[in-house]
Amino acid sequence: MSAQRPRVFSGIQPSGSTHLGNYLGALRNWTALQHEMDSVYCIVDLHALTLPKQPGEVRLDTMSMARMLLAVGLDPEVCTLFVQSHVHEHAELGWIMQCLAGFGELRRMTQFKDKSERLGGVGDGDNGGPNASVSAGLFTYPALQAADVLLYDTDVVPVGDDQRQHIELTRDLALRLNSRFGENTVVVPEHRIPPAGARVMNLQYPEQKMSKSVGSDAGTIEVLDEPRKIEKKIKRAVTDNDGEVRFDPVHKPGVSNLLSILAAATGDDPEKLAPQYTQYGPLKTDTAAAVIDLLAPVQKRYSDLSDGDVTDALGIGADKASAVARVVMQRIRTAIGLLSPAP
Ligand code: AMP
Ligand code: TRP
Repeated sequence: MSAQRPRVFSGIQPSGSTHLGNYLGALRNWTALQHEMDSVYCIVDLHALTLPKQPGEVRLDTMSMARMLLAVGLDPEVCTLFVQSHVHEHAELGWIMQCLAGFGELRRMTQFKDKSERLGGVGDGDNGGPNASVSAGLFTYPALQAADVLLYDTDVVPVGDDQRQHIELTRDLALRLNSRFGENTVVVPEHRIPPAGARVMNLQYPEQKMSKSVGSDAGTIEVLDEPRKIEKKIKRAVTDNDGEVRFDPVHKPGVSNLLSILAAATGDDPEKLAPQYTQYGPLKTDTAAAVIDLLAPVQKRYSDLSDGDVTDALGIGADKASAVARVVMQRIRTAIGLLSPAP
């Protein structure tokens, strides 16, 4: 069922900004992977609706995410890059997956537990009151994610460890579908943790991952930050007082983070870089210069791309994705035994 080269599928939520951790930990890997595997990348705008949004917000975020993905080097002719809601089969198979998934197995998803707690918990109207922020979609989200993957006869899903539980569920649902409706109805995918992309820590709180939600702006380098801003943030990065440059993430998280970033930016090894420095100042200067050089071509491409370029690229992607999804969806409809509409 799968193409000659193994097919990989990955999804990313549209969000207004992309930081250095996203780039070094995920997007750079996607760019490399497109030349090795049959790569399908989806901007999951329907998933974004699980949290409350303003009118138009998702459209803007989807455009900037698409523009960013093109700027980091995804080539719409080489991979398949598309927007989830452009391919209607996602919503269709998503429903079928909701009907296949058990309430109990969805309730065990730790991401749902974490996110719903952060939104104030699940009220039932009697105790805690109705909580409209925790949507039913937030609960059934993993069923839609399973549909995303299964629609493309995906062999491998390269996502971080935080998504392991969702991919395990996807596998369980694929096996269940096959055993109920016929072997080989869908391809059972495998989870693969991508090659150790750098884990980038917050510059101000180096024990925590660089992330959208945690910490101050000063601790997060945005891919689109101007060179002077990058320099300033790195110069102010938290280190320690012992003055020794050594790669030791447990005892020296700040200095080790700088070494990791420098290494990831230059293709070097943090342990090998450490002995080249005796002071923090030069390490910071070199790290800032390396990050600025790394991001400069991405920033240039980002500003060169017009809205028209982005929508054209997404159009190509939607056509390629639909061609696959239509066939797989028809196979599933037939296996389940949904009545076909009159021709
Ligand atoms: P998120 O923005 O958390 O949804 O993450 C999108 C992608 O970027 C995921 O594949 C993450 O594993 C990766 N990522 C996010 N933050 C970091 C970080 N600080 N270091 C490395 N990778 C990250
Ligand atoms: N749930 C993923 C995340 O939050 C995004 C995602 C949606 C995804 N559908 C997917 C990832 C399918 C891999 C495969 O990061």
